[in-house]
Amino acid sequence: MANIDQIKALIKSHTDGDSELFYSIALQMAAHAKNKGHSKISKELKDLVQEAKDKGFNKKNCSVIPISQPRGELSGLLSVKYSKDTLSQIFLLDKTKNKIKRIIKEQRQKSALAKYGLSPRHRILFHGPPGTGKTMTASVLAGELNLPLYTIMLDSLITKFMGETASKLRLIFDHIQTTKGIYFFDEFDALGADRAAGNDVGEIRRILNSILQFLEQDHSESIILAATNHVNIIDKALFRRFDDLIEFELPTKDIISEVIQNSLCTIEGSNKLDFSLLSDKCIGFNISDIKKICDNSIKEIILSESEVCISNNMILECIEDFQRN
Ligand SMILES: Nc1ncnc2c1ncn2[C@@H]1O[C@H](COP(=O)(O)OP(=O)(O)O)[C@@H](O)[C@H]1O
Ligand SMILES: [Mg+2]
Repeated sequence: MANIDQIKALIKSHTDGDSELFYSIALQMAAHAKNKGHSKISKELKDLVQEAKDKGFNKKNCSVIPISQPRGELSGLLSVKYSKDTLSQIFLLDKTKNKIKRIIKEQRQKSALAKYGLSPRHRILFHGPPGTGKTMTASVLAGELNLPLYTIMLDSLITKFMGETASKLRLIFDHIQTTKGIYFFDEFDALGADRAAGNDVGEIRRILNSILQFLEQDHSESIILAATNHVNIIDKALFRRFDDLIEFELPTKDIISEVIQNSLCTIEGSNKLDFSLLSDKCIGFNISDIKKICDNSIKEIILSESEVCISNNMILECIEDFQRN
């Protein structure tokens, strides 16, 4: 039968949301059982693995049901995923990447900091235009730090629970204290809009006051990430509650070139493209759009009836086509 190390590894892979490892250990256990002459048990295990795979539990990011899945009232407020994203997948200006690396380093070495009474940065605000990688970076941090990523959709939280938002926020912040993870408040402007901005003053003011208070009182081990495309409307009092403000900017020409090269590298002949020319045409685009243009070009090449070869002109046409739509 399975030995204790296999069972421990099995539980760990489940906790980490690593379904591939989970199945591989389960199959090792099946092989082990067979070697010991327990053919029936071995077959049962193999069938169970196959059944789980068929049900689609091996899809990226929704692998094995996570242990810390929010339940009850929280299930409508938080969604959780496990990420395997790494820093190497993200294109950022050096100054932005260095700030992300610093967060990871401080988190990994928190006990060294604790000896001096210091704690790692853990309340961070990402801001910048859409499609520059704020959401992706939340996932990268979760992947690098091996923590579950809880996402709070503030927009729906506010509309769905109008009048009760502050009390729902308390539930979320209680969870932040008790369950270590990365808590991602996307579209943070929906919550932290300037009190002077006028909108629905009563509710907005209540929410803002609560979030100010909750952030102030937070001494958890979790990381609180907020992201906004509209930093100009965030209430100034909120800025002081964050340990770090990180700006995400549109990519420079060098980064655009890197993104294009990287996205097209699987296509034969792509190394002959004039990346300087192509990146010039994409200045002002965000990375999400640049990746879409590259994906469109690849689709055209692989689905074309006639032999279409990759060329500067065909990519330029895809860029123009994207701009038109
Ligand atoms: N800096 C980046 N590096 C790599 N891919 C990126 C980057 N920014 C955006 N993308 C691509 O665009 C998609 C959408 O980006 P996202 O992180 O949602 O942007 P934001 O949250 O800033 O609006 C990502 O899933 C990723 O494929
Ligand atoms: Mg986003």
